[in-house]
This record gives sequence, C-alpha cells and structure tokens, in this order.
Amino acid sequence: MRSKVKDLLGMEAGREVLAKGWVRTKRPSKEVAFIALNDGSTIKNIQVVVDRSGELAELLPKISTGTCIAVRGTLVESVGSGQAVEIKASGIEIYGECDPVRYPLQKKDTSLEYLRTVAHLRPRTNTFGAVYRLRSQMAFAIHEYFHSKGFVYLNTPLITASDAEGAGQMFQVTTLDLGNVPKDKKGGPDYSKDFFGRQTSLTVSGQLEGELGATALGEIYTFGPTFRAENSNTPRHLAEFWMIEPEMAFYDIKDNMDLAEDFIKSLVRYALEHCREDIDFLCQRYDNTLVERLEGVIATDFVRLGYTEGIEILKAAVAAGHQFEYPVEWGIDLQSEHERYLVEQHFGKPVILTDYPKDIKAFYMKQNEDGKTVRAMDILFPKIGEIIGGSEREADLAKLEKRIDELKMSRRGLEWYLDTRRFGSCPHSGFGLGFERLLLFVTGMQNIRDVIPFPRTPKNAEF
Ligand code: 4AD
Ligand code: MG
Repeated sequence: MRSKVKDLLGMEAGREVLAKGWVRTKRPSKEVAFIALNDGSTIKNIQVVVDRSGELAELLPKISTGTCIAVRGTLVESVGSGQAVEIKASGIEIYGECDPVRYPLQKKDTSLEYLRTVAHLRPRTNTFGAVYRLRSQMAFAIHEYFHSKGFVYLNTPLITASDAEGAGQMFQVTTLDLGNVPKDKKGGPDYSKDFFGRQTSLTVSGQLEGELGATALGEIYTFGPTFRAENSNTPRHLAEFWMIEPEMAFYDIKDNMDLAEDFIKSLVRYALEHCREDIDFLCQRYDNTLVERLEGVIATDFVRLGYTEGIEILKAAVAAGHQFEYPVEWGIDLQSEHERYLVEQHFGKPVILTDYPKDIKAFYMKQNEDGKTVRAMDILFPKIGEIIGGSEREADLAKLEKRIDELKMSRRGLEWYLDTRRFGSCPHSGFGLGFERLLLFVTGMQNIRDVIPFPRTPKNAEF
C-alpha cells in the first residue's frame, strides 16, 4: 500500500515501502541519483536513491522535475543531512513523463507574479502547497470553533434577489438572451421573463438570511463564497471571496467584539499548532517576522476605540506633520492608509473600531442615541486593514423602516427580513470575516491573489 511522504518521514528505517508523487528535483552523483519526491502531504520531500549501475538506471533519463512516479524500496537511514530516512529504490514505475523543456515550472522565473499566470500548476510549488494546506486547515478550524460552541452551520443562498449590503456591487444572474432582451412597459428589461421571474444576482453577503437563522436557532454561522463586482484592483480585494458570517441572538456589540477577538485568536493559535512546518517555510521564504506577528496577536488585547477618537488621533498625526493622501475629517470612510496608521504606527496592534457614522455603514446597523453613529465594529489588522466587519443589528422595526426609507431603498423586497423585527424581535449581532484576508495574515503573503487557488479579479477569470 502507498504511504504518504508525511508518514514515511516519521517511520523507522528497515521497512519496505511504496511512495507515489511528483519529482521536485533529480540530482545525479557518481554512483547514485537522488530524486526529491513530493506528494503534497507535507512541505518536505522524501529522498529516493537510485543505483546508477543497477537496472533502474535506464529509467533515469525519463525522470525529471514534474514527472509522476511510484517508487518501491527499503526505507533506510539517510547519511545526508536534512532527513532521517530515505528510500533505497528497488522498483520505479513512471506514471507520467514531464517534458523538461515545456514544463512551465522549470523556468527560472518563479516569482509570484509569474506563478499567477500558471495558477493551474502552481499547487506543485512549495509555496502554494503550503498556502493551500493552510487554507484547508483554517477552514476546518473555523467549523471546529463554531461547532464546539454549539453554533449551527447555515447555508444561505448564492443566488439572491436582495442586495444585503445595499452597496449595489452585484453580479447579475440571468438567462435572458443578452442580444435580444425582452422589454417591459417602461422600456427596461422584462425580468418577469427571466429564469426566476425577477432580477437576481450573486450574493454579496449571507447576513440577512443569517439573521433569519439566528432569530430562531440562536447562534448560526455561514461559510461560503461571496461575490462583489467592485472594480478595485488592489492586493486585498477579490471579486469572488469566501466569508464566514456568524450571527447571534442576544449578543450586544460588546459580546460581538469578544467573540470576534476570541475567534481570530483561536484560528491563529490553531495555525501555529497544526501547520507549523508550512508556516516556518513561509516565514523563512517571504517574511521572517511572520511567526512573531502571529504569536503577538494571540498574546495581545485588541485595542477598542470609537471612530470619533480614531479620527482625533489621525488629525493629531496630520497636525504633527504626517501626510495622508486623503484628507481626514469626521464622516469619512477610512482609507487603508488611515487604518494602517492607527494599527501599525499608533497602536502597534489590532484595533477594533466602533460607532461609525451611520452614513458610511449599511442600513441594518443599530442606531446610537446620538442620531449620528451606529453600533458598527470593524477589526483592523496590521498589513491588511479591515479583516472583519460587523455590528449589532437594529432590532426596532420603526427605526429600521425609517432608515430604509431615508436611504431610498425599497421596503418591498425586504418584507421577509422585516418580519424578524415584526414577530418576536430580539437584540442580536454578527460579523463577517473575509477568509482570504485571514489567510493573508496567517500566511504572510502580500497579495490576496496568492491565497485562493483561482483568483477572480477585474478582467481576469482564467482557469
Ligand atoms: O465589511 P463587509 O462588507 O461586511 C459584510 O458583508 C457584513 N454583511 C458582514 C456581517 O456583519 N455579517 O465584509 C466583511 C468582510 C470584510 O471585513 C473583509 O474582510 C471581507 O469581508 N471582504 C473582502 N475580502 C476580499 N475581497 C473583497 N472584495 C472583500 N470585501 C469584503
Ligand atoms: Mg466592511
């Protein structure tokens, strides 16, 4: 039976073994050839030693970087440094040869930019092996965290008729013939002829449906893809990203912050405990402060700061000579330079910013008594900026309806949502964690395109 490389590396010498994987490198020496074999189970390779005077030698010319092989042999203690055991090959089967001239990963250029152009093959590199294993482990840790707390995993729809955030950044879903769109009486598209009989889009957030779940099941979370047609070509935005959205009945804004802080810390702790080899690799390769930063976040209390105080700190910085590209005044939506100033320069740790002006936040947030701010909370992280956005929700039907009207949103499409406030309304809160933003932090990668297997960004939907 085939053993995975991860397991082989922990076995005692002396056993007969079978390994299967892809050749990372082949290095001939005088009497033997060394093959580094990787099967994705770990960042490490198993070394295969082939006798150049034996009958396997004739296969060696067909084996090069990328070749897929099965190797039988004896696990022996390795004399070379770097590994405890290696395989002394007694049989090799070549599953798939790999033309060394045409194989795209042979190229000298292994920059992350180049690897994005061969995203279909980049999982075979050490870097992306490490990132994708971490991604998978983090997904598991997220489910485990919520399950251990009794949260219900709720699946919310991906195709929806509601614009949860009211930000209008939706990808439309239609089966209408775009070359010949049926028209309604006003000359616009006749959506009654469309697949769902109405205008629909891909979801920007599962929150509103999540609230339906929380106000019945108590505590729920969603974890799925979300889509935003934001035309922002930045290292932190994707058009298709994954979001985790817990929603909890009877939580106020403080309970919400406590949960969010504990949640992130647990995930980082999980990564350090379960993915250490991959993290160490990324730390050495790209960012030698990574482990320090991860440990730092676990050990520190996040700063909790009102938006208004945050603006005062930024204004003081400007008065002291700090230059921002965008002007600072009460009411602005913070730019990433502002967020990073607070987190990286002023406090030197994660900041939870609360009580934002209502005009820059979504309609569903609980309104404060001052009439100007809402009970929002964003968690800002070093090098990333906003990693979590959340709030206590407005539970009062009249206030919520008034806000919807003020924003000139249509109440008609939201009646089902308003029913939560009409029938047994309750205080409740929730937040959304951008999965890829979390992964940026945990892997130390700089570009969000490098923490999702197949990034979707403006003008790019390859693979
Ligand atoms: O702040 P956002 O827009 O909040 C919501 O969608 C709420 N419904 C969440 C809730 O309260 N249940 O998005 C939440 C998080 C952001 O903090 C960010 O981490 C991530 O989602 N995010 C993105 N990640 C990658 N690419 C994008 N275009 C993103 N937009 C938001
Ligand atoms: Mg936000």
